[in-house]
Amino acid sequence: MKNVIITGGTGFIGKRLAESLRSELGKRARVLAIGSGDVDLTDRNATFSWFARTAADMDCDHLFHLAAVYKAGGWPVEHPATQFFSNTSINVNVLWAWTRFFPKAKLTSALSYCMYPPHDGAHPETELWGTEPEAYLYSYAMTKKALLVGQRACAQEYGSRCTSLVLPTVYGPGGGFEEDSHVMGALIGKFVRAKRLQAPSVEVWGSGSQQREFVFVDDAVNGFIAAAERSEELVQNLGTGSTHSVREIAETIKRVSGYTGQIQYNPDRFVGVSKRSLDSTLIRSSLGWEPRTSLLSGIDQSARWLTDQLDGGHAVDATLARSSSSPATPKHRR
Ligand SMILES: NC(=O)c1ccc[n+]([C@@H]2O[C@H](COP(=O)([O-])OP(=O)(O)OC[C@H]3O[C@@H](n4cnc5c(N)ncnc54)[C@H](OP(=O)(O)O)[C@@H]3O)[C@@H](O)[C@H]2O)c1
Repeated sequence: MKNVIITGGTGFIGKRLAESLRSELGKRARVLAIGSGDVDLTDRNATFSWFARTAADMDCDHLFHLAAVYKAGGWPVEHPATQFFSNTSINVNVLWAWTRFFPKAKLTSALSYCMYPPHDGAHPETELWGTEPEAYLYSYAMTKKALLVGQRACAQEYGSRCTSLVLPTVYGPGGGFEEDSHVMGALIGKFVRAKRLQAPSVEVWGSGSQQREFVFVDDAVNGFIAAAERSEELVQNLGTGSTHSVREIAETIKRVSGYTGQIQYNPDRFVGVSKRSLDSTLIRSSLGWEPRTSLLSGIDQSARWLTDQLDGGHAVDATLARSSSSPATPKHRR
């Protein structure tokens, strides 16, 4: 890889990917990590004009497409149209601009495991076709499916080179720790905050029995780089192969954060499907990718990062203070 563009480069995963590529590629490469302040990718003219200007200035051999509009918690249920319009526009504009201005560049995109149908088994990539995603994430999931269809179409018609990774929940330093974040970030935020405030208990949504798969952000970034460099597959899952119950997660975070109060499970909270996991056989055999970060180490790094941010008085404190004092309104969580 020499010259790289990352859409969504100001987001959680995109920022980390940019840092990693910059340190790996050094001065011999340019890494443009762009966010909505650089160009509004929902706007076709603005997107084409940004790509045209960039193409006049540099050649790009790799485009990571991570830009998307999504929030965890109850937001997807209340904003299916926003997700449809934003993400469909972003994806169509990026695919179009890629094939028009950088037709030789390879594209690697980020998909989500909510594209799979709701059942308890591990999902192989073949299940992406001829199945329906779960209802409350339908709009977001279908825009990801449409992105994959678009990539396949570009490969078929123009011979474009592309690949995609289907991610489970990604967590780590720099992620979201608000109460309505995904379950891992939300719980780390709750326990770290409860310790600071010496709160007597922490509420955990659901009975604690629901199971999820998590990937630490640096492992996801390594997967993106490996897929960009070597993958010949249209799409592959990037998962650890292990699921963890919310109870196990909560107890681990409690221990790691040093919180000594009680955990209160609230089974009245709706928390989505009982289990979600990926079959990641393909990425292991085709790329040799393996996660390197244990759950314990990932939680520890995340909790330390958040504590440092709060100790330093960073803005995340305001978000946590808000989520600690107000009752949670969202009823769903991915
Ligand atoms: N995090 C996860 O657990 C997870 C799980 C599965 C899949 N994914 C996928 O992985 C990708 C990255 O996720 P993330 O958690 O890093 O997302 P994120 O933190 O929410 O970042 C989203 C990025 O998209 C950019 N963006 C949004 N609207 C835009 C627009 N109109 N024009 C240009 N850029 C726009 C944002 O730019 P600004 O911030 O500058 O506005 C930001 O850089 C996404 O495609 C997501 O669907 C993530």
